[in-house]
Amino acid sequence: MAEHEALRARIRSLTEGETDQVALMATVVCELHHSDARFDWTGFYRVTEPGLLKIGPYQGGHGCLAIPFERGVCGACARTGEPQIVVDVEAFPDHIACSSSTRSELVLPVRDASGALIAVLDIDSDRPAAFTEADAEALAQILEDVFGHVAA
Ligand code: SME
Repeated sequence: MAEHEALRARIRSLTEGETDQVALMATVVCELHHSDARFDWTGFYRVTEPGLLKIGPYQGGHGCLAIPFERGVCGACARTGEPQIVVDVEAFPDHIACSSSTRSELVLPVRDASGALIAVLDIDSDRPAAFTEADAEALAQILEDVFGHVAA
């Protein structure tokens, strides 16, 4: 990712000392979304009960409100706990299209200090194959910086 270390330092500075998850999520999506022209939708889906994700802070067009773990790219990330790098959303079984312009997607697990899954970070792009392993690793570092100390 372009200027990853500067972005990481800026987010760390903006969120330092904050523990409220919504405030942290809102700040992270704002900075991420405006940092990279590939990002057409950037948002969190929160684990609100076992097996269910509900939309959290996001930037971009409206997103669907609820996603069961059985469905979509977000559900696959929540179910497996593994990052999902989707180079072509049309080829992903049961992809949930919140926008017809989305071509590729990156979804990462978000864990608190105990290691529990508290959310997933979903980034959509209108560009095919927009995301790489390096993007996933860079974003995972930022998520660990921000949420890795947050108590359950
Ligand atoms: N595409 C996601 C759904 C969320 S919208 O993209 C904001 C999925 O398949 O889980």
